[in-house]
Formats: sequence, structure tokens, C-alpha cells
Amino acid sequence: MHSMLTGVMPTRPPHLLADITTLCRLWLTKPRQIATWAPSSGDVGHAFVRELAGAPDGLVVELGAGTGPITAALLGNGLARERLVAIEADHILHARLCRRFGPEGMLCLDARNLAATLGELLARRGYEHVSAIVSTLPILNFAKADQKAVLDGCFAHAAPTTAMTQITYLPGSPVRQHALAGWGYQAKRVSRIGRNWPPATLWQYRRTDR
Ligand SMILES: C[S@@+](CC[C@H](N)C(=O)[O-])C[C@H]1O[C@@H](n2cnc3c(N)ncnc32)[C@H](O)[C@@H]1O
Repeated sequence: MHSMLTGVMPTRPPHLLADITTLCRLWLTKPRQIATWAPSSGDVGHAFVRELAGAPDGLVVELGAGTGPITAALLGNGLARERLVAIEADHILHARLCRRFGPEGMLCLDARNLAATLGELLARRGYEHVSAIVSTLPILNFAKADQKAVLDGCFAHAAPTTAMTQITYLPGSPVRQHALAGWGYQAKRVSRIGRNWPPATLWQYRRTDR
């Protein structure tokens, strides 16, 4: 899978200025939800792509797709379209995702409430499990109960090897490690993306009880 996922992706898409304008406007009105004024860089996209190497089949769930830079990286580097489901709570950003990638699998939903939807999608598409979760959600801003709801919803249909890869701009895990342990998850820091401002880190969360 990894070789399929390596490739070249444009670092400066033609719609970047329009995306920044939209994100800035939304950020000013909903700063804690949007949490950025610029789409993630190509280096961040590639770092997420590398973490999919251990997920050769099953559904891939993207949380907080925004204007779609991670979506583009995943699809542009070999992830089959029918394996992807991208979740975005904001309806303006969701409409943009549908225009850019087509509506199939682009869902305007709250990531804290996904278990039933993912169950239906798996059945409809004929997959056994969610094999990977990639998240640029501002999960640090979520209440603890909401962090748990995101994890539990996504892992409700996960394989034993499934990991949730989460970005953060702070050194530590954005979901506290002692809270994770209490909920049956473990955390591991997997990569650092220095060529991004601010520099980013990817963490992975997995179930401990499987
Ligand atoms: C930091 S932006 C990341 C956007 C994009 N993936 C990127 O990398 O540029 C976070 C995104 O998560 C979305 N988001 C925040 N809370 C959410 C929730 N509860 N459910 C779904 N999406 C949410 C925001 O609307 C925003 O688009």
C-alpha cells in the first residue's frame, strides 16, 4: 500500500487563495471549531498518507476535512475513492468538498456522533471494518466527554489494528494520555512535520483491549 501511496502532489493548488479567504471568514466567527486560517500543507498531507501504510483495506475515515487538503493527499496518492469517507461539520466547507471531490462519501456531520453512520456505510459499501482514521479536528478544544465520543464512535467498527492519526501543534498528545488509558486507548507520537508553520506532530491512538 505504501508504494501506491507515494507520489507527487501539488503544494500550491489553484484554489488556495479562495480557501484561505473562506477559512479566515469562518475562523473569525467560529474560532474554536475552525481553528485555522490556512489549509494544511502538502507535507502534512504526505505525513498522513504515510500513516495509511498499515491499512490496506477497509474504510478510511477523515475527520474535519475542511477545504480538503488531506482528502486530496489521500486520493491523490492511491487511496481508492470508495474507501474514503470525509466528515465535516461546517456546511459551507462541506459544500466545497462536494464540489471538489463529488458528493459520495462527503458527509456534513458532527464527528462526536458517528457510530451509527459508519455502521450503515460499512454495510452499504461491503467493508468489514474501519481500517484507519485520520483527524485534523481541533480535538484539544473539545470537552473530555466529546473527545471520548469521537474515539468511541470511530472505533466502534474498527479492526484490532486500526489507528486514529491525529494532528497537533503542541508537543504533547491533544487528548490527555491518562484520560485515554482510562477509556481503553493508548497513544504514540508517530511523526513530526517541521516544514509546516506551525510545526506539526502526528499522534496515533489505538485500543488497548483488543
Ligand atoms: C483545523 S481545521 C482542518 C481542516 C483541513 N482538514 C486542513 O487540514 O486544512 C478543522 C476542521 O474540523 C472541523 N470540525 C471541527 N469540529 C468538528 C466536529 N465536531 N465534527 C466535524 N468536523 C469538525 C472544522 O469545521 C474544520 O473544518
